[in-house]
Amino acid sequence: MGSVTTPSAARRATVSLFSRLRTAEGQADPFPIYAELRAQGGGISPAPWGGFLVTSFHTCDQVLRSSAWLEPDTRWRERQGERTRWSASSSREISRTLPALNPPEHTAVRRAAGNFDRATIDRMTPRVDRVVERLLDTVMERLHTGEADFAALVSEELPVATVGDWLALPSADWPRLRELTHEQVFTQELLPSASQLARSDAAMAELRAYFLDLVRERRARPGEDPVSRWIRTWDAMEPDRDKADEAVYFLALFVLLAALETTSTLLSTMALLLVEHPDRWNLLAAQPDLVPAFVEETLRYDPPTHVISRVGAQDCLLDGVEVRADEMLHLMVGAAHRDPAQHSRPDLFDPHRKPAHLAFSGGIHYCLGAPLARLEAQTLLRRMITLLPPLTLVRTPSRAPRVAFRRLLNLDVALA
Ligand code: HEM
Repeated sequence: MGSVTTPSAARRATVSLFSRLRTAEGQADPFPIYAELRAQGGGISPAPWGGFLVTSFHTCDQVLRSSAWLEPDTRWRERQGERTRWSASSSREISRTLPALNPPEHTAVRRAAGNFDRATIDRMTPRVDRVVERLLDTVMERLHTGEADFAALVSEELPVATVGDWLALPSADWPRLRELTHEQVFTQELLPSASQLARSDAAMAELRAYFLDLVRERRARPGEDPVSRWIRTWDAMEPDRDKADEAVYFLALFVLLAALETTSTLLSTMALLLVEHPDRWNLLAAQPDLVPAFVEETLRYDPPTHVISRVGAQDCLLDGVEVRADEMLHLMVGAAHRDPAQHSRPDLFDPHRKPAHLAFSGGIHYCLGAPLARLEAQTLLRRMITLLPPLTLVRTPSRAPRVAFRRLLNLDVALA
């Protein structure tokens, strides 16, 4: 359906780049593959399955900020027809959550969600600090007798403990919720297989039942938690109780989905960058003021989400390429972060850089949870360099074979 005729050789080359991206080597280091993609397409190239792949930082940034590009919302997904990935029940469910809405609906729902202002972050800080200390104690205990899997012991635990506590979810539910978030992510992946979509659908059905129950419970016994607050906000906006409850359900569901894997990946990537090079540990220990910049450079260097999608509101020209209304742009932000037109020596990890990045998207969909993700990452990093002796990487971590949502499956460390 692309508006540009793709020469078959170029299409074959892109297909081959994508199969390489899914291999263990491609996952460990996708950046040379992105560089090839950029060299082939000059910042925007037709995707073999339709739509376009954008690797230019400037163009990704421009698209995210422009009202000419929309989220693939419910109506767009319906227009793609039945028996496509967009008609899967998990895809339809996700299309009703905040990041898949377009204005004016998005504007109202985002306002009702509220945000993580300074006061909220300040209130959450002591608890995040306590959880980090406890988790690092566990790491130290393991290290005394051998190696420790930092991903399992820390990166997977801190986000669910933070958001689970904030939403006042019983801690006994956290492990199952975390598992379900890993399962549902396929529906948001670049090219999910039928069996992956089936896993997403099953996970989403369980999550739906869980969060609808939660909303009913909080309506019966309201408290001071965000879900109870969202019920009060929606009751003032929406006279129909069932619709209000559903709106709160979609918000609570998405906050959980958005907060867990992304933050875990940030924490693991940051820890990996730290333990891979002893000079980085020494630098931070000597200059702890660099902690926030180290986190931002991690978000640039290897962001948790490598692809963000938008569709054209109408036919237009993007960087001289004709894009039709409804065609999809895959903004390859992981690649855009290494665009030499944006960052000098982009393959160099430089914690002094204070980089512009698109890890939290941009424009009206800018990540609502960015202050919380930053709080968790900065607290963890500060505590690591003060509470732990220098650590070293035991083996190259394995990764989930995904393209859009990065995930380290383990991060085995030992005392240096
Ligand atoms: C490092 C961690 C995180 C990363 C990399 C990340 C990334 C993103 C990205 C890329 C988007 C925009 C998607 C788009 O433009 O289509 C987004 C949106 C969103 N994120 Fe995050 N996120 C992170 C953590 C969190 C946390 C901790 C929360 C909540 C507690 C959260 C809540 C949201 C919400 C509600 C949206 C939708 C905003 C909207 O559409 O208006 N995120 N996030």
